[in-house]
Amino acid sequence: RILIVDFGSQVTQLIARRVREAGVYCEIQPFNKVDDRSMAAFAPRGVILSGGPASVTEAETPRAPDALFAMGVPVLGICYGQQTMVAQLGGSVTASDHQEFGRAFLDLKEPCALFEGVWEPGSREQVWMSHGDHVDRLPEGFRVVAQSDGAPFAFIADDARRFYGVQFHPEVTHTPHGGQLLRNFALGVCGCAGDWTMAAFRDTKIAEIRAQVGDRRVICGLSGGVDSSVAAVLLHEAIGDQLTCVFVDHGLLRAGEAEQVERLFRDHYNIPLIARDASDLFLSALNGVDDPERKRKIIGGLFIDVFQEEAQKVENAGLLAQGTLYPDVIESVSFAGGPSVTIKSHHNVGGLPERLNLELVEPLRELFKDEVRALGRELGLPERMIGRHPFPGPGLAIRIPGPVSADKADILRKADAIYLEEIEKAGLYDAIWQAFAVLLPVKTVGVMGDSRTYDHVCALRAVTAVDGMTADSYPFDHAFLSQVATRIINEVRGINRVVYDVTSKPPGTIEWE
Ligand code: XMP
Repeated sequence: RILIVDFGSQVTQLIARRVREAGVYCEIQPFNKVDDRSMAAFAPRGVILSGGPASVTEAETPRAPDALFAMGVPVLGICYGQQTMVAQLGGSVTASDHQEFGRAFLDLKEPCALFEGVWEPGSREQVWMSHGDHVDRLPEGFRVVAQSDGAPFAFIADDARRFYGVQFHPEVTHTPHGGQLLRNFALGVCGCAGDWTMAAFRDTKIAEIRAQVGDRRVICGLSGGVDSSVAAVLLHEAIGDQLTCVFVDHGLLRAGEAEQVERLFRDHYNIPLIARDASDLFLSALNGVDDPERKRKIIGGLFIDVFQEEAQKVENAGLLAQGTLYPDVIESVSFAGGPSVTIKSHHNVGGLPERLNLELVEPLRELFKDEVRALGRELGLPERMIGRHPFPGPGLAIRIPGPVSADKADILRKADAIYLEEIEKAGLYDAIWQAFAVLLPVKTVGVMGDSRTYDHVCALRAVTAVDGMTADSYPFDHAFLSQVATRIINEVRGINRVVYDVTSKPPGTIEWE
């Protein structure tokens, strides 16, 4: 396995993605948490130093632990990682006038193990750069492999020690073949086997779960989403009926969702399932509440209460399973200090483990989202479930701006179902990150037949995104939108006007609240 030391680059996670795509397990650790002991315990076959926002030319900037260069394993420094490696090994780095941001070209001077079979010496290759500083004197033992206009030491190597440094970012897709360079490092240079697949992960995890759980009972909360579903099915494979799933219906789910969960888990997988319809409880607690954050707090709090009530029905429960993913586990490297501003309090069910006082089992905590999907496929979960659009914990409550009611939730569920049905019919579901309807607290005048109508406005939202951090509205054709609008207005009582939201994120957010 490979250790990735994070110096705070925006794209460190992509390094991990590329290494894992090569079939090699890797972990990201913040530079200030890596020390001799942790490295010895992790026993990596190779180390990658990430980029980062700091400048090596200033005092007090982050360094890799010196012991890392004495372990006898290959090291690849990327951007800031290259610069700190050079500085720590006796070379030097300067701030230059010639900054390179974006596309740049490398002139390959000499052969190198890192690009064997990918690039040819003598050729010119496109890469993606983002740097102000650059290396200007090499430590002993290093040679220049390639240069760019702005970086005379853009690609360096010390073959004897197997230390490599690149000023460009091989992990981003804007560096064509960058993934192959990282694969060469992990497989060719470090000698990793490249056999870390989802099938292998499944087997190891099942053994680990059995060892952790023993003969105790486990409770797993289901949300209807991909992560908790995959966690539940994996756990069930490992420990069978020692697992009980709990599904709380807060009355703000999409059309047919509660039934689908019951059908899949109880009927198809035969997993013991406690399904609790708590709609009345949630809807009455939300009565008259219009502040988005208060809605989230009320739903989050009640969810924990109801879940706890149901969980207590499981005798001798010793563990709580959660579908925590790797991006939630990676400790971020912060230079700015100070907490970031809360835009929305997404951790709507945070606090559950503390309240239940149960040991946690988190079988997905090493995985990225697309790896969870691959594992779901490996476990035979239906494609529809695996490819599902994300759905927020507070559900339709944050898609009904203003006070929520059972009637409004019903109206919205119908409109949303029609919209999604049309998206599926047009074959667009998988091209969209998330699509949903929003019921506005605004009434407008319309005419149907010979009568005046005075009903709600429904807004449609559809976005493309990679991780939900940024998003763009989906460019439907007009004919498609008209078709959806006509169907919603004709089939859903209570809506007489449909609009499409074309706001990107930022400055908008994906949800309306
Ligand atoms: P925003 O609206 O912040 O959404 O652009 C980004 C992603 O997060 C989801 N989201 C939530 N998920 N609880 C959740 O579990 C929440 O309170 C919440 N608010 C937004 C949203 O659906 C999108 O995928």
